[in-house]
Amino acid sequence: MHFHRGKKVLSCILSIALCVTMATACSKSSGAAGSSTSAASQSTAPSTAAPTATPVPTDTPTPTPTETPTPTASPTPTGTPTPTPEYIEPIITGGAVWYNGYVDPRSVRAEVVSNPDDVAVLVNKYYAQPESYVPELVYAKYSASQQLRPDCAKAWEQIHDACLGEIGQDLYLISGYRSWATQTYSFKNAITRRGLEKTCCKNAYQGRSEHPLGLALDINIRSDPEIRDNFVNTTAGKWVLENGYKYGFIWRYPEGCGYITGYGVEGWHFRYVGVEVATEMHEKGIKTLEEYYGKPQVLPYNE
Ligand code: DAL
Ligand code: ZN
Repeated sequence: MHFHRGKKVLSCILSIALCVTMATACSKSSGAAGSSTSAASQSTAPSTAAPTATPVPTDTPTPTPTETPTPTASPTPTGTPTPTPEYIEPIITGGAVWYNGYVDPRSVRAEVVSNPDDVAVLVNKYYAQPESYVPELVYAKYSASQQLRPDCAKAWEQIHDACLGEIGQDLYLISGYRSWATQTYSFKNAITRRGLEKTCCKNAYQGRSEHPLGLALDINIRSDPEIRDNFVNTTAGKWVLENGYKYGFIWRYPEGCGYITGYGVEGWHFRYVGVEVATEMHEKGIKTLEEYYGKPQVLPYNE
């Protein structure tokens, strides 16, 4: 009996122990699920823990594009506009009339130059001075009461003195400035005296001569005050040809250049163009003002 009771007690202890073991195992299992629940709730429940994750760097800020500037209107040109040239229309119509390679200036259209005050201005059968143009003038030394532009008169005095000083030749100015009216008379008179062919070779029509510019000089020496083709072959003439550029003078109608200048050779006619242009022409071997400006005249068969 006592033994049975003992067995019962033992059995009872074993049952209790079994229950405790099972309860502990459930409790452990329920803890794992709880931790899962706890992890899920982190997204909603405020966390009191200090952040441990490395902060995700924010992207490099995309620069805000600056506005495309509105193009400004094309700038207004400030330069002086090229003036529209004026022309003198031919009074002999029907085309250019040529005499032995020299055109009749009355049969061609001439552009009126816009710079008659420029000492290097180009005037010939195709480039005319304005009719109203009269330059500033002074009486020239070593002349028969001839007038020239002040710059030209000063240079004339200098070349005269240099020539006299260096080789003892006394240069003389036969003809300087001529008015438009004088040149008009001179051209008409030449036709009467020598005929149209010779006139077109040697005489300038009004407005197409350099004499009314006050920049042309017909010269020789005082002891022979006449215009002569031979002047450039004399002692004085050769010196002027060689040294003229130093004072701003050029031989204007050289031999063999009639098809470029529009005039036959004139051994007496010199032109003041200023030291700069005369020196450049001398250094470059340019013989005529037409070539200097790239505007040579042409023979009929070149037209
Ligand atoms: N003898 C020149 C060309 C003139 O008359 O101007
Ligand atoms: Zn002349």
